[in-house]
Amino acid sequence: MEAAIQLRGVEKRFGEIVAVDGLDLDVPPGICLGLLGPNGAGKSTTMRLLTGQAIADAGELTVLGHQLPGDSKAARAKMGVVPQLDNLDVDVTVEDNLRVFARLYRVKDIGPAVDRALDLARLQDRRKDAVDELSGGMRRRLLLARGLIHQPPLLLLDEPTVGLDPQIRTELWTLIDGLRSEGVTILMSTHYIEEAQRLADEVAVMTKGKIIARGRPNELIAEHAGRETAELYGPPEFLRDARLRAEGEGLKVRPAGPAIAIVGSENAGNGAVPDEAIRRAASLEDVFVLLTGEEAE
Ligand SMILES: Nc1ncnc2c1ncn2[C@@H]1O[C@H](COP(=O)(O)OP(=O)(O)OP(=O)(O)O)[C@@H](O)[C@H]1O
Ligand SMILES: [Mg+2]
Repeated sequence: MEAAIQLRGVEKRFGEIVAVDGLDLDVPPGICLGLLGPNGAGKSTTMRLLTGQAIADAGELTVLGHQLPGDSKAARAKMGVVPQLDNLDVDVTVEDNLRVFARLYRVKDIGPAVDRALDLARLQDRRKDAVDELSGGMRRRLLLARGLIHQPPLLLLDEPTVGLDPQIRTELWTLIDGLRSEGVTILMSTHYIEEAQRLADEVAVMTKGKIIARGRPNELIAEHAGRETAELYGPPEFLRDARLRAEGEGLKVRPAGPAIAIVGSENAGNGAVPDEAIRRAASLEDVFVLLTGEEAE
């Protein structure tokens, strides 16, 4: 089947900065693709190119069969967009926020569409309240429901849970997972490993404007990290020596907060991994840190 999103050699510069640098990306229909990358990787810029809020300097972009930027209006009509920053209208009610978007997207039966969105966001009993009376989690749910008012087949989520409490984050994950099981195609940017691991069918690791690895979380782990990682805590000198010894054995070592993580420890020869190390299954976090050189959140 034709890809829902297809990018070929896409570039976007801001003066000297190359925010997106020859990006190739395919999102097949019906999956949730997690665009996982550190701050400044170019995730939001990629999203903005897809919504037509920014124009690429080079490359080809196709969304649901529509070529951008020429056909971006038609593409936009079939897309739901949830921006990184909350841009709800705080002066009007919950219900009116939804109504305005329903009109904008030329939804035929506005009443039922608003009701459906209120159900999805679980905000039926707050429909007459002003947005600035809502909690942070309610606002996020409303933002998501607003993006879905026209029942789009494709959803762009830019850091859907950034800065939220763990409990609210889990709640949103459930919501997003529900959409995924209904068959909505989702492109979701995140820099939370756990978010990608929980929600994404496939993960594309992005750094410096490029995709450097792509696959199902388990495939990425097997390919780049192996089976097992050994975490070691201790004074800096002890860790430095352990690191040198492990690297001398050809193992990859990465920082892990106050600890070091010796990746691929299942292949370690005698003495390459100290006995006090804690062995655990390799994780997507190992892959992310090894590939991007950035510590994970
Ligand atoms: N409008 C702009 N003008 C100038 N530079 C920009 C603009 N938008 C983005 N950039 C730069 O482009 C690069 C990529 O930014 P972008 O916002 O796409 O990253 P990101 O992956 O979304 O990061 P974050 O995780 O922090 O949201 C950064 O260096 C950023 O400073
Ligand atoms: Mg961003």
